[in-house]
Amino acid sequence: MGLLDVSLCGLKMKNPLILASGIRGNNAYLLIRAAKEGAGAVISKSCSLLPREGHRNPTMVDTPEAMLNAIGLSNPGVEEEIGEIKRAVNGAGVPVIASIVAFSVEDFAKVAGRISEARPHMIEINAACPNTHREGKMFASSSADAAEVVGAVRNATSIPISMKLSPDVPNIGEIAKACIDSGADCITAINTMGGMYVDAFARQGVMHNWFGGVSGPALKPVALKCVYNIRKAVGPDVPIIGTGGVTTGLDAVEMMMAGATAVGVGSAVVLRKNVFRDVCAEITSFMKENGYLKLSQLVLDEK
Ligand SMILES: Cc1cc2nc3c(=O)[nH]c(=O)nc-3n(C[C@H](O)[C@H](O)[C@H](O)COP(=O)(O)O)c2cc1C
Repeated sequence: MGLLDVSLCGLKMKNPLILASGIRGNNAYLLIRAAKEGAGAVISKSCSLLPREGHRNPTMVDTPEAMLNAIGLSNPGVEEEIGEIKRAVNGAGVPVIASIVAFSVEDFAKVAGRISEARPHMIEINAACPNTHREGKMFASSSADAAEVVGAVRNATSIPISMKLSPDVPNIGEIAKACIDSGADCITAINTMGGMYVDAFARQGVMHNWFGGVSGPALKPVALKCVYNIRKAVGPDVPIIGTGGVTTGLDAVEMMMAGATAVGVGSAVVLRKNVFRDVCAEITSFMKENGYLKLSQLVLDEK
C-alpha cells in the first residue's frame, strides 16, 4: 500500500487529490488530462437537464489571493454529457465523479437518472452554487431542502452520492448530517463563497453578474472550519472531500487534519503548473519528515 493511497466510498485512489468540479469543464479529454497529470480522481463540471449558455462576460476575476467566478453553470446538458462521462470513465484510469445541477428537486432526480447511464464512479450534487435557487435560495442553504434533493437523487440512482455544500450558511454541520440521513454517502465541502468586486473608476460591479463565487487561497480558512464542523456532526465514518483554497501540500495536509478524507483542488490548477504531482510530492515529504505512516493518522483530535 502506498503512503498516499486512500479509499473513498470504496473507490481506490492512488492519492487523495481530486480535480474539483468546473475547473476543466465537461469534456472527457480535459478530465483525462487531469488524471494523466496525477489527480487521484476527477470531477466534471456540473451538468443540467438542458444545455445552458451561462452568464455574459466578464465571468472571472483572477488575483493571486482569490478568484471570483460567475460562469452561470454553462454546460452542454445531460444528453451530451452522458457521452463525455462514458469516455472519461473508459479513459481516465482513476475514479470519475459526475457533477449534476438542477433548479427543482424533480430535475435533480432526472439528471441523476440519466447521467447514471454513463456509470460514473460517483455523482456529486451541486446544490450549493449561488445560481442554484429555489425561491431565491440555494437548496444547500437549509437542511430540509438539501435532504429533499438527496432523497430524490438517492431514489433515482444506485451510484454513490456526494452532496456538495455551501459555506454561506450558519449550520453546515447540521445540513451535512441531514444529507447523510437522507442517503448521501459522502459530503463535498465547500463550493465557492458568495462575493463581488467593484471597479472604483467605472463605479460598477466588475463581473457582468456583479456577484460571483470566491475561490482560491482566501477560501482556505473558511473551508477548514466547514470541514472540521462537518466531521464533528457526521462522525469519522462519513467521507468528506475537503475543497477550498488548497494550493500546496501543506494546505492539503491541513485539510486532512481538519477531517477531509480526500482533497479537492480547483483554482490551484490554474495558479500552479504540475499541481497534482507537486502537491503529492509535498504531502509525501511532510509525512516522511513528521513520522506519519498513512493519511488517516493526520486527522486532528477534536477540540
Ligand atoms: C471557474 C470555476 C468554475 C466552477 N464551476 C463549478 C461547477 O460547475 N460546479 C461546482 O460544484 N463547483 C464549481 N466550482 C467550485 C469548485 O469546484 C470549488 O468548490 C471551489 O472553487 C473551491 O475550491 P478552490 O478554492 O480549490 O478553487 C467552480 C469554481 C471555479 C473557480
